[in-house]
Amino acid sequence: MKQIVELITMELSEAFERAGYDRALAKVTLSNRPDLCEYQCNGAMAGAKAYKKAPYIIAEDVVSYLKERSCIAAAEAVKPGFINIKLGEEFVADFLNQMAGDENLGLGRTQKPETIIVDYGGPNVAKPLHVGHLRSAIIGESVKRICRKMGHKVLGDVHLGDWGYQMGLIITELKKRKPELPYFDESWQGEYPEEAPFTISELEEIYPAASAYAKEHEEYREEALQATWMLQNGHRGYTAVWKHIVTISVRDIKNNYKKLNVEFELWKGESDAQKVIPDMIEDFKKKGQAYLDEGALVIDVKEETDTKEIPPCLIQKSDGASLYGTTDLATLIQREEDFQPDRVIYVVDKRQEMHFTQVFRAAKKTGIVREDTELRFLGFGTMNGKDGKPFKTREGGVMRLENLIAEINDEMYKKMAENRMVDEEEAGNTSKMIGLAAIKYGDLSNQAAKDYVFDVDRFTSFEGNTGPYILYTIVRIKSILNKYQKQGNSLEELRCMGACTDSEKALMLEVCKYNMIMETAFTETAPHKICAYIYDLANAFNRFYHETKILAEEDKEKQKSYIALLLITRNVLESCIDTLGFDAPERM
Ligand code: ARG
Repeated sequence: MKQIVELITMELSEAFERAGYDRALAKVTLSNRPDLCEYQCNGAMAGAKAYKKAPYIIAEDVVSYLKERSCIAAAEAVKPGFINIKLGEEFVADFLNQMAGDENLGLGRTQKPETIIVDYGGPNVAKPLHVGHLRSAIIGESVKRICRKMGHKVLGDVHLGDWGYQMGLIITELKKRKPELPYFDESWQGEYPEEAPFTISELEEIYPAASAYAKEHEEYREEALQATWMLQNGHRGYTAVWKHIVTISVRDIKNNYKKLNVEFELWKGESDAQKVIPDMIEDFKKKGQAYLDEGALVIDVKEETDTKEIPPCLIQKSDGASLYGTTDLATLIQREEDFQPDRVIYVVDKRQEMHFTQVFRAAKKTGIVREDTELRFLGFGTMNGKDGKPFKTREGGVMRLENLIAEINDEMYKKMAENRMVDEEEAGNTSKMIGLAAIKYGDLSNQAAKDYVFDVDRFTSFEGNTGPYILYTIVRIKSILNKYQKQGNSLEELRCMGACTDSEKALMLEVCKYNMIMETAFTETAPHKICAYIYDLANAFNRFYHETKILAEEDKEKQKSYIALLLITRNVLESCIDTLGFDAPERM
């Protein structure tokens, strides 16, 4: 379905043409002054020069051709030359009914489905997930769902940090603690145990201990670097330990993501890319794309138009070790081989922007990706505490993701306990659903690139621009629909008829924006636009609800039209929160 503003633009185009002006002037937008009109067109202003006429005269000309059009209830020329528009009720109702009859609520599927990879999550194996990974997971999941809703083929790749120095550290520490294990016996020929020599909690204790110890003890650090090198060069015993680390850790990571309603299609890691690296480097050298700079192999990526210095992309250190950028380039080679993506979107902390600028340029320059492959960096800001500093636990430590989730769920549970009518189990589940909405909406309602303050009190409130408020609104609608059905009515074949009151019209107009908002959120990769929209929509609904007798309405035809409007409002809200990555309970 077309967007409603496109339909009105078409109307205006006709009017411009009939009045003797260029139809291309007729661009219609949402009103800047909702108190005066619903939509507006500034084309008369734009055309004034070409036609050597006062814009107001042009506007009046055009308006005279809009008078008898049913889709426009009122069109007015206002000085200096705006055209203010109010839409016809039946036209709006008709648009809503068409939306209701469409399985995608009027959101057209793309004509040209792309293969899109979203690289997000990025947790590091053996290190607990912390709130820094929260944003990537939340934003990435939403971006993935938005792309999918548009009809693209989308794959989410978790891109585990499962390679490198942290692994050498763990191996070294384990060897220190349990030297008798077969992994460390160089003469061991047999199979290694299937059971890991540590639990997840031990693992989580080993890594920070080793990391701290290495900072103080040079020879230990050397040993860990050596172990890293040996692992990367295929040491049998270390590879077996590494596999244990990955298995145990990934199990835990999956659990955490599940709590966040985040799901990945691909569980690839940095380690998977390693096999491609030697050939890739050979190729760079052979084609003269990389050169040696003080012993290190680099690719120049600066461009003439740069306004700031973009250092070369480092491919290999003088000691032969590869780097973060090397892995990202090799990963792109594999993605090209496996999926030929049209777009790759990276949802990563914005402090890594330079890294990705270098990688993207190097990938284009060396032909790893096609000229028209879109590589996109979606950098996000920091999640801060109320003190404006990066979010910490009360004791000042790094907040672990699962603790944060548990804290929010408890908070929601307490709030619900105050006036609750459901049993223990339902209350538990519902508070988890609302808790998730609180966290996700709190994050997504901010523009990704901005830092924001994670404010537990505000985010868990049922009032204001919050996740719980949105869910509360949806539940309110569901409850009315339920009662309506319990009164013996059916929800089938209901149609919106037109608005009786201002608040009803306002709600109808909000609902109609759905496909426009979704398309914008997609083109701008901007989940926060969906949040802003559902907040407006929820407000419009609540205003309508407070001003209207719905279940007590005696005029049954009128009531049916109200219920039709409620149904489509609920469907739009639920579709929107689905793209944000959370759901609404049946009651709360
Ligand atoms: N593991 C990295 C980190 O914790 C994030 C990975 C981002 N994705 C990528 N392709 N480099 O910082």
